[in-house]
Amino acid sequence: MANHQLLVLAGDGIGPEVTGAALQVLDRVAEIGGWVVEIERADIGGTAIDAHGDPFPEKTQRAIDKASAVLLGAVGGPKWDQAPKRPEAGLLAMRQYMGLWANLRPYHIFKGLEHLSPLRKAQVDGIIFRELTGGLYFGEPRGRRFLPGDLEVIDTLQYRRSEMWRIIKLAFEYARDHHLTLTSVDKANVLESSRVWREVTDELSKQFPDVPVVHRYVDAAAMDLVLNPDRYQVIVTENLFGDILSDLAGGLVGSLGLLGSSSVAGTPGTRGLFEPVHGSAPDIAGKGIANPTGAMLSLAYLVGWSWSESEAQQLIESAVAESLAEGPHTPDLGGNASTEEFTQAVIQRLEHIWQRRKIS
Ligand code: NAD
Ligand code: IPM
Ligand code: MN
Repeated sequence: MANHQLLVLAGDGIGPEVTGAALQVLDRVAEIGGWVVEIERADIGGTAIDAHGDPFPEKTQRAIDKASAVLLGAVGGPKWDQAPKRPEAGLLAMRQYMGLWANLRPYHIFKGLEHLSPLRKAQVDGIIFRELTGGLYFGEPRGRRFLPGDLEVIDTLQYRRSEMWRIIKLAFEYARDHHLTLTSVDKANVLESSRVWREVTDELSKQFPDVPVVHRYVDAAAMDLVLNPDRYQVIVTENLFGDILSDLAGGLVGSLGLLGSSSVAGTPGTRGLFEPVHGSAPDIAGKGIANPTGAMLSLAYLVGWSWSESEAQQLIESAVAESLAEGPHTPDLGGNASTEEFTQAVIQRLEHIWQRRKIS
């Protein structure tokens, strides 16, 4: 019987609501799969600041060390926006602590939700490979320097070639395995780091002669993703550009609540952090109406990647897709279902799909 150790970091805002929903799904999937899942919980972000004075406390680090995968809700909120160390810093510290340099963010229009996309006739189906532990998010020096009568502020865009190499290679491998075009997004017309990014992409391209490669500047890519989303299949880009373009992808499919993601160190079967693309949504937190799809899909990626349970991954993805096709829908999708009502619909679908499979 499979035995899995899951660490749940529910975090702030809607984090507890959407991870709670995903855990209800996990309960049923574990029962079906005959797994024992040991679930531990720890604090991250604002909740951790309140409880421990630190957005990424020592206790959470120790819990990560014991886990075979981590499911995260979201961090942040107005309460902590002026904190000396913000909740978001805890998330970044955790990604770095876990060495999770690759962030995979798939997006597509679900059947039945075509009307929500501003581009409803277009083919919107892609994945963003976002570099996750380098660039402006982590470069040094950073901070404020007080000058006579002025203030200077510095953020550093820093990358090693090896950091670019591994994420671009991962995206090439994915594009090759799925017979897709790779779009590398940079700002090579301005930034030195982007010029090296392009060189690395071109060099790797020689190892992947079957993968068509397109280079795009990030500003043009943002425009083109809206006009011609069908041209984008696999996007690889640095940390900040990936953050921005993945929220844009949320807009393309109709709601940010629909996107899940995997933060991993490149090799399946290893520990990762699985997090919806959205944040803590302070505007709807506590109302019981958050869309838990991103958290449920993150759970699906978790069981597939860290635990090699690909059948369970498929089961969750199908149950979510069928529920989105049939409804009920949460308010972000134009419906009036609660998080709980949608979750129950997903669990029911899960049962149906499971029964169908058992019979056939
Ligand atoms: P957000 O993603 O929290 O919300 C943006 C908009 O999308 C809001 O209108 C929100 O209601 C909506 N939305 C997001 N998720 C939804 C869901 N599951 N269902 C329905 N609607 C949803 O972004 P923001 O408002 O810019 O940031 C709020 C806080 O979250 C900030 O502190 C930010 O730093 C943090 N944040 C955290 C993460 C993370 O923990 N991974 C990611 C992004 C932002
Ligand atoms: C995300 C979030 C985070 C990021 C923030 C909260 C640090 O926006 O995961 O997309 O920028 O990586
Ligand atoms: Mn983001």
